[in-house]
Amino acid sequence: MKLSKRVSALPASGTMAMTALAARLRAAGRDVIQLTVGEPDWDTDERAKRAAYDAIRDGQTKYQPSAGLPELRRALADRANAELFSGLRGTAGRAASSRRIDFEYKPENVVVGAGAKFVLYAALQALCDPGERVLVPVPSWGSYRAMIELAQGLAVPVPTRPENGFKLAADELRAALRSGARAIVFNSPNNPTGATYALDEWASLAAVLRESEDVAIVCDDVYHRFVFDASGPAPHLLQAAPDLAPRTVVVNAASKTMAMTGWRVGWALAPGDLIEAMSRFIGQSLTCVPGFSQRAVLEALTIGDQALNERVHGELASRRETAWREFQAVSGARVGKPEGALFLWVDVMDFLKRGSSDRPLRNSMEFALRLLEEEALAVVPGSEFGMEGYLRITYSVPEDRMREAARRFRSFVARLCSSGRQ
Ligand SMILES: Cc1ncc(COP(=O)(O)O)c(C=O)c1O
Repeated sequence: MKLSKRVSALPASGTMAMTALAARLRAAGRDVIQLTVGEPDWDTDERAKRAAYDAIRDGQTKYQPSAGLPELRRALADRANAELFSGLRGTAGRAASSRRIDFEYKPENVVVGAGAKFVLYAALQALCDPGERVLVPVPSWGSYRAMIELAQGLAVPVPTRPENGFKLAADELRAALRSGARAIVFNSPNNPTGATYALDEWASLAAVLRESEDVAIVCDDVYHRFVFDASGPAPHLLQAAPDLAPRTVVVNAASKTMAMTGWRVGWALAPGDLIEAMSRFIGQSLTCVPGFSQRAVLEALTIGDQALNERVHGELASRRETAWREFQAVSGARVGKPEGALFLWVDVMDFLKRGSSDRPLRNSMEFALRLLEEEALAVVPGSEFGMEGYLRITYSVPEDRMREAARRFRSFVARLCSSGRQ
């Protein structure tokens, strides 16, 4: 008897599958370069770790409130108010402030869950009735689609174009909204392309969103501090359009920017009724996030962003530059310089047409599997992000490994091209 039902039809995470294959090869003794996972390769700050040890020693080892520790909810509300609603400058800022409504996040507008992923899942469960359409500009993180389906919504991919830097244009958004939608999910900086909306781009999308008053907006900001052109976080929809806050869910986590992926702490800021519903969902499924993890994040919030900014504008910027130079030098591969996040999005369409007749490369998954098998280089196929013909390559690894990765990639495609000519 088959025990599993609807959920068994869910696709497995391609990123996790490639990572598991890479681990298996490594266990068999191969020198695998692993460019699959989207996380910083530096460790959690010692002070945050110490706060967790202290919390455990002090007995914070029991159930916690489902919505999160009150002091963490307050700290997250204060931080969001400071980041999103104060200090608007320039033309876009003036335009935004003329629309400013009296909206300020309070602790009741915050819910804490097990990483951004579970918080997004709770938000989609709270937002969707069965069959409701949720727009997802693609390429995008593959879990959105899976989570929308788990919430019994209908995921509607909205393709973006390379000519527009994989950003959704206002007219494309208007066309997509014409068939109706319950919600739309934005992710800027984007996984996998790094595309990061500027304030004026947000302003033109906001003008279209104002035409569809019933559409909820989900902003997944997990990479918001991994941007290279400015010192602060990435520009935000709510800075350009604070009037949209009453129908926006802002999701973020300690995972990426605080190098705390394993601590499983994420949060959402949203109007009170949605937070209530999400808290109930969390209470009936997860119960709560461990108190010591929340304590660690509370401490990490007090540390400030200076060390992170130095890392992003020093080491990470240099890694991005090296990765981009190396891969764009490979003849036939096309790759834009990412504005944010941790990835190169490499167009390998030309190579898919090649490959020997006995072993043709039909899609990005076959490309990624052969690259792993022949060169011990692990990357994620574009199909995982809803767009064929691309690979996602994580560049948050030491530069000598990235150079070696590019060398392996070059030798793989050279072989492919020569066998394709035979
Ligand atoms: C765009 C995006 N959102 C959310 C997440 C999940 O973050 P967390 O580890 O906090 O659940 C990821 C993780 O890769 C991601 O890429």
